[in-house]
Amino acid sequence: MRNQFYLFFLLVLFIFSCQPTAQKTANRGTLAKNGLVSSSHPLASEVGVNILKKGGNAADATVATFFALSVVYPVAGNIAGSAFVVYRLKDGQIGSIDGREKAPAKAHRDMFLDKDGNVIKDLSLLGHLAVGVPGSVDAMVEMHKKFGKLAWKDVIQPAIELANNGFKLTKREAESLNRAKEQFKKINSYSLHVVREDRSWQEGDLIFYKDLAKALERIRDSGRDGFYKGETAELIAKEMEKGKGIITKEDLANYKAVWRTPVTTAYKDCKIISMPPPSSGGIALLQLMQGSENYPFTKWGQLNSQTIHTMTELERRVYADRATHLGDPDFYKVPSEMLLNPEYNKKRNASISPVQKTLSSAIKEGNVKSIESVETTHFSVVDKEGNAFSITTTLNSYFGSKVMVEGGGFFLNNEMDDFSVKAGVANQFGAIGGEANAIIANKRMLSSMTPTIVEKNGKLLMVVGSPGGTTIITTVYQVMLNVLAHKMTMQEAVNAKRFHHQWQPDIILMEKGAIPDSVKTRLQNMGHIISEIGGLGKVDAILRLPNGMYEGASDLNRSDGAALGY
Ligand code: GLY
Repeated sequence: MRNQFYLFFLLVLFIFSCQPTAQKTANRGTLAKNGLVSSSHPLASEVGVNILKKGGNAADATVATFFALSVVYPVAGNIAGSAFVVYRLKDGQIGSIDGREKAPAKAHRDMFLDKDGNVIKDLSLLGHLAVGVPGSVDAMVEMHKKFGKLAWKDVIQPAIELANNGFKLTKREAESLNRAKEQFKKINSYSLHVVREDRSWQEGDLIFYKDLAKALERIRDSGRDGFYKGETAELIAKEMEKGKGIITKEDLANYKAVWRTPVTTAYKDCKIISMPPPSSGGIALLQLMQGSENYPFTKWGQLNSQTIHTMTELERRVYADRATHLGDPDFYKVPSEMLLNPEYNKKRNASISPVQKTLSSAIKEGNVKSIESVETTHFSVVDKEGNAFSITTTLNSYFGSKVMVEGGGFFLNNEMDDFSVKAGVANQFGAIGGEANAIIANKRMLSSMTPTIVEKNGKLLMVVGSPGGTTIITTVYQVMLNVLAHKMTMQEAVNAKRFHHQWQPDIILMEKGAIPDSVKTRLQNMGHIISEIGGLGKVDAILRLPNGMYEGASDLNRSDGAALGY
């Protein structure tokens, strides 16, 4: 009997000693002790975690995951788009890098208008003129130079291998390639290898990116010059000439990512650290968090009519500020101090009524029918020392401008549409803008990307962000409140249904099935117009638990993402 008990004890010990350090538990996402990467593709998360296991730090893993996403998630992952990174190091130092695209030197204010001053449909969205000078690769090079521990070539190599060896498409990826097929054919003057003529792409099909592998090898071998000069720059310039685009080799050679000081504010006992302009996301998020301090959301509950009414009233005021005051700080004096002054926000929010939506003759109903093609991607990385990187990267629409550089194998962004192409005219997200975000040569277009880190009592608490165009800000806002006010786990906070208001159009976008009819009726009685939408955002986030473990949460109901750790 004693022997049996001893054997049983040994068996239990053996089972526990074999437990991986990363695991999933009910209601929680992936738990890990030593490091975690949460991204929109399992293969990219795996690349990042392998880099951590090899002794790389969170910066190395961020760069490796970024390049892996450019291969396995080309709908938004990129080498010819933009990237914003907010970091918090183990010693509490914070910073950010801005790898946002710039308008080419030949760009001008009215470049998307006809002779009568009307916006030419789709010109800022599809094809070569829609492309901004890419910034993401330079941001990665700079970041690795400053923080990287492993060799540059070692953090890019896994992406090259994925591109050369191929990988299997998920159902969603096959569908997005099929959906874009006709546009790929219309926009490009040659046959793209991602266009299948024999049949549609299907889940499980193997896909290769051989030209992209060569472009990545040039970046591996020559750093920023491997993209902004030499063969890749030649290929981009040639592609531009072919399609009547205006980016030149000089535009590429002159591009520089910029280190910027993050915006910060207090929310209860937390410090929120986010991306400064040219992102609108950080300032808008911080305004929302300041406004939220004064309401009993915890008591009201998450999808309660009073909560939704109050949060969307806060959002309407913040997005009105966004439209007027936010743009590239190198070209426009953004009144950041005023917008982040708690007194300013308090006064501005004082007009919120608890029973009625604020009437405003300046608010007109817009007509955004769908926010489907908002393909940006966010990922979050932490390492065992507690360094945290929050990064959002984008081509803007899915597959950007739909232009794939001939011989380069990568898509070009369509970020010019993030400028206000004409004052007061809505862009693809239904967002309007004015002078602050008007097109000027070499200026950066306004973004909503909101990579964010939360600190509590001087310690790392959360790393969070999302794609979704203008809906990024409200998605990040809700996920944060879900944890901070509604006491959800990271995974519950990410899974929870979402809603969005951006002032114009004057509607609440509500995820399908989010609220029962009774809540809907109460909101309608307050004057709100509600429109249903399939999904809002795709969050990849990490929470540091009180016991020091990390909980990674990917948006499993809205994407193919994966939070992996060890
Ligand atoms: N293109 C999406 C954003 O930067 O907000």
